[in-house]
Parts: sequence; structure tokens; C-alpha cells
Amino acid sequence: MSSVTESAEAAVTVRAPAKVNLQLAVGPARPDGYHSLVTVFHAVSLFDEVTVRQAERMSIRVSGEDASAVPVGKTNLAWQAVTALATAVGRKLRDSALLIEIRKRIPVAAGLAGGSADAAATLVACNELWGTGLSQRDLAQVAAGLGSDVPFALVGGTAVGRGRGEELTPALVAGNYHWALAFANTGLSTARVYATCDRIRAARAQADTPDTEAGTGRTGPALATRAGAADAVRRAAATGRPGVPEPELSRELMTALRSGDPVKVGPLLSNDLQAAAVSLLPGLRRALAAGREFGALGAIVSGSGPTCAFLAKDAAHAGDLAVALTGAGVCRAVARASGPVPGAAAVGPQRRARKL
Ligand code: C5P
Repeated sequence: MSSVTESAEAAVTVRAPAKVNLQLAVGPARPDGYHSLVTVFHAVSLFDEVTVRQAERMSIRVSGEDASAVPVGKTNLAWQAVTALATAVGRKLRDSALLIEIRKRIPVAAGLAGGSADAAATLVACNELWGTGLSQRDLAQVAAGLGSDVPFALVGGTAVGRGRGEELTPALVAGNYHWALAFANTGLSTARVYATCDRIRAARAQADTPDTEAGTGRTGPALATRAGAADAVRRAAATGRPGVPEPELSRELMTALRSGDPVKVGPLLSNDLQAAAVSLLPGLRRALAAGREFGALGAIVSGSGPTCAFLAKDAAHAGDLAVALTGAGVCRAVARASGPVPGAAAVGPQRRARKL
């Protein structure tokens, strides 16, 4: 009887998409430090590619966009994905060493969930390489432990995310949406953007506190004049955390997405983290204004930023926007992309681990 080993040649390549958030409604901070969210994730055709192959010891090689900014040790989400999947399926870690090659097109710390895409791609690749046969649902559970955006990178398409973003419901969307994505010169830490959002909200709440009017039944002047403020206050009071209402899905956006008409979708794009991202990188204001000026149907910071996403009328318009934004010198680089696209999936001929 021959001993059972795995082919040293086995390698699997998977690509996974970037995302933009068509809506990002951020609620109060939870006791675990995360914020409750309602978000509409939308996967776009900007992909990272990950190849995994068996090796004597774990290592990561990165090439492409922002490669030098990607950690190659245990802090890399792809490395963590290998460990998490091996643990979940009861595989010995010492038999699970891999060479992970990451070819990046998604910029790092850009609000496009590039690290999450790499983690999702690695999960799918290891599931295939090891023949572990986990279902999409099982993989999603492992993914949620790695980061809030990783489960979405597995499924792709357009989906509503709740909880901290990991509880997904597929969304009904018609048509294709074309984007120009403007990359900034620097990245932003997601945690820092959320913390800045909290600080801005706390400062606003303080400014709005009707301290001199306490007991008079009147609200402060800033709140009284803000659209929808009364409703927000009522919802906030119901949560017991005055000032930060529970996030709600935009029904108007969902209806517009079902129509497949980007003209309807554009004005309904929204991001509660945008003010925080802009306060940390004020240059983003210029980029957003330039995109609007060049005829973008919608202009938002993607996720925690700093990438700005501009919705175009069609593919040709996305090209025009990309050229105009590049010429205006308001960003480091511009990419065109369309969505929705599928989540992490194997590419090319795969050589599965074979029993010899
Ligand atoms: O889940 P992930 O590792 O991507 O989150 C990075 C950081 O972003 C968290 O540590 C937290 O500070 C912040 N975050 C949050 N609420 C969320 C998602 C992320 O506060 N729903």
C-alpha cells in the first residue's frame, strides 16, 4: 500500500471583488466596540487574485497595487483565513502550511474591502485545495470571524448587511452600474474613521443639547431645523441612546435599484462615514465636487474611505469621468468598474490536491 500524501504541485487560484457601499447607515457603538449597521454592499469588477499551494512553512508573497503596504505575516487576513479554516475543520496546523500569493488590484486601506477580498479568496481556495467541502454557509461563518466585510466578499452581488455588516440578505437589483473609482494618495484606518464619526456625532449632540431650555419642552435650534430630526430623536430615544438612532435601510434606494435606472440610484447613495473620512482627509471634498461637476449621477466616499465612488450613466460615461478626474488631479489614480459581480470564485484550470 502506498502512503497517502498530497501532490506538491497542487495549487488553487481564486479571485474576489472589491465592494462599494451604496448605503452605509451607522448606528450606535455596541458594547463590543463595533457599530450596528445597515448597509447595501455592491461588488464591483475590481479583483484581487489569490493562489494557494502547499509548502513546508507558511509564507505570503504580494505583488501589484500597494503591494509594499500589505503585511506578509500573521496579521495578514489571508494568513488568518488559513488558520481559521484549518481550525474549523479540525486540520492540524502543521499540515496546513501554504505559500499564499496575492496579486493586488484593490488598493490597501481604501474603503473597498481589499483585505476582506483576499481573506474570502483564501477561504474558497483552501476549501478547494484541501477538499474540505464546506458549504457557502459554513464558509460564511468562518468569514465572519475574520472581519465584518469578509462574508460579503464570499457572496458578492448586491446585498443588505446588518449587525456589524456580516448578516447578509441578497438584494434584488436590476441592470448594471458603472463606476469611476478615485483612489487617494494615502489609506485610512477603518477603526479611526468610525472613532472620528463617533466624535463628530458627540460634538453635534452637545451643540444640540437644549441645556438652557431644559424642561421647556422645546428642542435646540440646530436639531429643530435639521430635516427629519424629530423622527431621529424619537428613534434614538427608543434605543435608550439619545443622539444616535438605530440605522434603517433606505426603501427609496432599494426601489431605485430594482428599477435598474442609475439616474434614480445616484441621488440616493449615502454614507454616514463620509463626514468623518472627509474631516480626516479634507482633499476628498475636492474630489467629490469634481466628480459631481463632471456629471456623476452620484458621488460618495466608499465605506470608510478614502476611495471616492462616482456613479456613471453607462460604461462610456464612466470612461469619460475617469479621464476628467485624472485630468483634474484630485486623486492618485482612477479605475473603472461595474457591478454587481459575483463573489470569490476559482479561476483557470485548478489542480486539486490529489491522493497519491
Ligand atoms: O471587522 P473589521 O475588522 O473589518 O473592522 C475593523 C474596525 O472597524 C473595527 O475594529 C471597528 O473599530 C470598526 N468597525 C465598527 N463597526 C463595524 C465594522 C467595523 O466600529 N460595524
